Amino acid sequence: MVKVDAAAYLKDVEKARRSLRALIASKNCAPIMLRLAWHDAGTYDANTKIGGANGSIRNHEELSHAANNGLAIAIALCEEVKNKSPLITYADLYQLAGVVAVEITGGPTIHFVPGRKDSLVSPREGKLPDAKQGAQHLKDIFYRMGLSNRDIVALSGGHTLGRAHPERSGFDGAWTNDPLKFDNSYFKELLKGETDGLLKLPTDKSLLEDPEFRHYVELYAKDEDAFFKDYAISHKKLSELGFTPSSSGLKMEVKNTAILAQSAVGVAVAAAVVAMSYFYEVHRRTK
Ligand code: HEM
Repeated sequence: MVKVDAAAYLKDVEKARRSLRALIASKNCAPIMLRLAWHDAGTYDANTKIGGANGSIRNHEELSHAANNGLAIAIALCEEVKNKSPLITYADLYQLAGVVAVEITGGPTIHFVPGRKDSLVSPREGKLPDAKQGAQHLKDIFYRMGLSNRDIVALSGGHTLGRAHPERSGFDGAWTNDPLKFDNSYFKELLKGETDGLLKLPTDKSLLEDPEFRHYVELYAKDEDAFFKDYAISHKKLSELGFTPSSSGLKMEVKNTAILAQSAVGVAVAAAVVAMSYFYEVHRRTK
């Protein structure tokens, strides 16, 4: 058994963060990295505790779900980072990629706590939202995750980045005029109504129709600070679905599948992470 201590794990996380910054900046791949993080986490069911931010999206079965079309690109990009930081779990890596994607495109800083475990069990297809549906569907899907109306609207602001690709989703175009800049323009464009050349999914439009949703759309369109503040909170919640950060000195195990695969005898990597989140914070602040 190879023992990996908390310090070595956290060092790998910081190295992965730096690699992700460089990779995302050079490849302009922030949007697809954010979509990867969201699709890994967004399968969570708060009742059954199945799904969530556990790296299971890398499994062929889950990756081939229609909602995940195109995400093999992001998985392959993350693998480049994993090769240089082999200790980090896929679950942490994908969520860190989402956090870095928002940060380096100008969005808010999202507090990232490492320690997620990898799973090879994938949820059944159909857990992610269907863009052709409306407000009630969004509520059904996000309430299942344990998220709120405010989370739904704030997180929908993730569409400030990126675009739809006809060969992936059947939709086409970007939501904003600068799809590599994280700001509140998604909400401004939404309130303008149909704009030439910009995309609005049926689910995006439903944010205007439901009064509880619309309240936040109007707030975020006029107050970018309010959007950034709420987005950072909601994104952290999303990134921790199915994961309870350790704050009480609990021991946790990190099974490193890359190392397991590389080893003929199978090497179990146990990371005794004591007060991981506390240590991590102190470690970062003292740097
Ligand atoms: C509210 C329900 C949501 C629906 C129905 C939805 C649907 C979609 C669809 C259909 C696409 C186009 C995929 C493609 O053709 O490449 C897309 C892209 C994207 N989504 Fe969402 N999404 C939702 C929520 C979110 C959330 C919560 C986030 C992140 C916080 C997010 C981030 C993104 C990003 C960044 C892209 C662009 C990807 C790229 O440019 O490659 N979405 N979404």
